[in-house]
Amino acid sequence: MVKIIDKEFIPYITAQEISNRIAEMGIEISETYRNEKPLLVSVLNGSFIFTADLIRRIDTPVEVTFIRVASYEALKTTGKVREILGLKENVFGRDILILEDIVDTGTTLEHLLEAFRDLGTKSIKVATLLHKPDAQEKADKPHFIGFEIPNKFVVGYGLDYQGMGRELDEIYQLR
Ligand code: XMP
Ligand code: MG
Repeated sequence: MVKIIDKEFIPYITAQEISNRIAEMGIEISETYRNEKPLLVSVLNGSFIFTADLIRRIDTPVEVTFIRVASYEALKTTGKVREILGLKENVFGRDILILEDIVDTGTTLEHLLEAFRDLGTKSIKVATLLHKPDAQEKADKPHFIGFEIPNKFVVGYGLDYQGMGRELDEIYQLR
């Protein structure tokens, strides 16, 4: 059990299980992109540890970059706007693989896919370490999934609770 700020979390996925699954994902991704030289787009902050471990399990040439997704209420009836920050690369005509820590409702994913499609990418796929299928509200499913997990809050291995807990080497679940 670990306490972060005011909440208690219990061990959920061990470091060994994460490592084993990421090795499998690395093989799958390498085979998918064997002759392509894709651009891997890691979504900060949560994906930084997953990204570092996954790319070292990929054995075909890839380029790696990092973005943020800014989310704010705009003067629109559709509610929250999500904007991509920090993308310097020209993605026109390229194969893009987005790296996410977790897909929850799928809203962030939907916005990312739309934004990259608008930039004229050749293909867009998504690899996520965690997916909450019961929380997903949007149609687009990630193409590569590490673990499907129940609709409970998790921390560790890059994921945070109020900015804390990213350094934990296992994934913990809210008690
Ligand atoms: P969706 O798919 O709903 O996810 O757009 C938006 C973002 O919410 C965060 N998220 C979590 N972060 N533990 C976390 O530490 C969780 O259980 C969790 N669920 C969602 C995450 O940043 C995701 O990108
Ligand atoms: Mg995130």
